[in-house]
Amino acid sequence: MDYANRIICGPMVRISSLPFRLLTLEYGADVVFSEELIDYRLTQCVRVENDLFDTIDFVVPGEDRAMLQIHKTREKNHLVVQLGTSDGQRALKAAQLVEKDVAGIDINMGCPKKFSLQGGMGSALLDHPDKVKQILETLVNNLSIPVSCKIRCLPTIEATLSLVRVIATTGVHAITVHGRTRDERNNDQCREGFIQAIVQEHLPNIVIISNGGSTVISSYEDIEKFRLRCGPTHGVMLCQAAMWNPSIFRRQGLLPIRDVAKRFLEISLEFDNLLPNMKYVLQRMFGVADNEIEFYEKILATETEAELYDLFGMKNDYEQQSDEQRQMWREKLRNRLM
Ligand code: FNR
Repeated sequence: MDYANRIICGPMVRISSLPFRLLTLEYGADVVFSEELIDYRLTQCVRVENDLFDTIDFVVPGEDRAMLQIHKTREKNHLVVQLGTSDGQRALKAAQLVEKDVAGIDINMGCPKKFSLQGGMGSALLDHPDKVKQILETLVNNLSIPVSCKIRCLPTIEATLSLVRVIATTGVHAITVHGRTRDERNNDQCREGFIQAIVQEHLPNIVIISNGGSTVISSYEDIEKFRLRCGPTHGVMLCQAAMWNPSIFRRQGLLPIRDVAKRFLEISLEFDNLLPNMKYVLQRMFGVADNEIEFYEKILATETEAELYDLFGMKNDYEQQSDEQRQMWREKLRNRLM
């Protein structure tokens, strides 16, 4: 897989599950990222072929739901798995478990959360170029698929460039640059000038992807405008804009959010997605949609999958699969590693 000239749906914890990723691919995303998976947790998983859904599942023994579920055909050559790590060997072990099922491995070097920082992961790595080099070189030298990383800006352009120059020596295929520092939040302005300075370095053989533009991206055309302002970069990664309305990837324009939500629910039915994930994703969509506050509250109030489907006028779709069928699926998943 080549990351150049791609529009990417980036990693989002609790959002980037299989049904959401498939939805964004349907609408036109070229590449999709998994949510960040912590390396040592992934290494506890067993790889299981799931014939019920045509997926490959990575499951912690004793747990019925997969930590990672990959569609064998629909995600082929499109899925990048993102890892949280502070150690090259541990990251390699996790990456090797999924290597033959994914198109690439990305390392999260941007997460500002306490959990990541305490573990020396995410944006803690930005202060340790030696560690960055060790992790990325270990992966590049031992994997057969492209390796990339996702960073945030450092407080100055010069400091950011000096980190990027180190990364460029490791042989990674791509760097995604989120145009904010570790202390900045998503409503702070994206530092497009920092990303532009990185592009102007003309580092050989490395794809630069701009990220952080969602608050100024509300149409397909805005994606290209952001890409041009940032360099132009070789690609763009969208996160919140995709979470608010996954049809942002459609060249033909945005679809009404209720239509998008229904398609999400249809795909969710196919893979027996559970209520908490469906509600989480739908709340993010409807929490920002115009004139949908009452409907948002109705979503919040649903207590069963049947109620949620009924709310969207999809009772028939839900009932087409019998409760027995669902029970059978869930029983089978529960028992597969016992
Ligand atoms: C994120 N972000 C994030 N980043 C990352 O590298 N790994 C992750 O798992 C997550 N999870 C996550 C969850 C949610 C709900 C949000 C909103 C964000 C950060 C994200 O990938 C991205 O860098 C920022 O949201 C900025 O890009 P946008 O949203 O302006 O396109």
